[in-house]
Amino acid sequence: MANNLLAGKRGVISGALDEQSIAWKIAERCVEEGAVITLTNAPVAMRFGEIQKLAEKCKAEIIPADATSMEDLEQLFSKSQEILGGKLDFVLHSIGMSINVRKKKEYTQLNHEWMLKTFDISAISFHKMMQVLYNTDAMNEYGSILGLSYIAAQRTFPDYSEMAESKALLESFARSFGYHFGIKNKVRVNTISQSPTMTTAGKGVKGFTEFFDYADKMSPMGNASAETCADYCVAMFSDLTRMVTMQNLYHDGGFSSMGMSPAIIGL
Ligand SMILES: NC(=O)c1ccc[n+]([C@@H]2O[C@H](COP(=O)([O-])OP(=O)(O)OC[C@H]3O[C@@H](n4cnc5c(N)ncnc54)[C@H](O)[C@@H]3O)[C@@H](O)[C@H]2O)c1
Repeated sequence: MANNLLAGKRGVISGALDEQSIAWKIAERCVEEGAVITLTNAPVAMRFGEIQKLAEKCKAEIIPADATSMEDLEQLFSKSQEILGGKLDFVLHSIGMSINVRKKKEYTQLNHEWMLKTFDISAISFHKMMQVLYNTDAMNEYGSILGLSYIAAQRTFPDYSEMAESKALLESFARSFGYHFGIKNKVRVNTISQSPTMTTAGKGVKGFTEFFDYADKMSPMGNASAETCADYCVAMFSDLTRMVTMQNLYHDGGFSSMGMSPAIIGL
């Protein structure tokens, strides 16, 4: 159901790799709600070619950018403003990748060089994006910047490994930069802490399918889907949430407030 909540707004959506990607659904919903957008992903992700389909559907241009490169990000945001015809109203950071998880390293045996790379891709890139947006004055007043997080930032989920610390860092960047952006021109910065979702990044975590089912049972409303996450992002990009900033917002069907679930212990 479209309500033109983003009519006249310009945005940049990162992280759509394939149809399962949370960012894919977010891009579709933003356009449905009247926004014009550009899409971006790492140059290597272009090889899979899936993003072209999304670009056609959303009538959006794709601007490849490695989110760890300040130069790429400067280009991304200046080109986006040129293409879309003005300053930006919203930006989505939907980027995550752990080298140690990919290489199946145990948490007690992590390679710290890889860890730094993981932090750079999954969290510092959020700061880099915001620094470019801030320094080039690329955001409109009351604009909205979102990052996607996970509750492993607050609680221990052993197989999530160094991504837990990546998310803690990501959420902290949202609070700290949210302060500076709020003062500068009332731009909001938040993270959405999403339920486990069947995507390429999600399925990279050991035991993900079993864990997905566990979280589904633990949450009174079940796991929140990528589609409902897209709805929430639209709300956060819209003018209806103008005073929400520096928050980590749970979008998880109630999981984060649960202590014990009778459904899990068979009561
Ligand atoms: N799937 C889940 O269970 C879940 C739950 C909570 C939060 N999240 C978060 O949602 C976000 C999106 O992940 P997803 O689940 O849609 O998976 P996904 O694999 O579809 O998306 C991850 C994206 O990051 C991109 N990326 C990796 N390195 C990059 C770089 N250097 N520069 C630019 N882009 C790069 C990938 O190309 C990919 O598009 C991530 O931050 C993830 O941690 C996922």
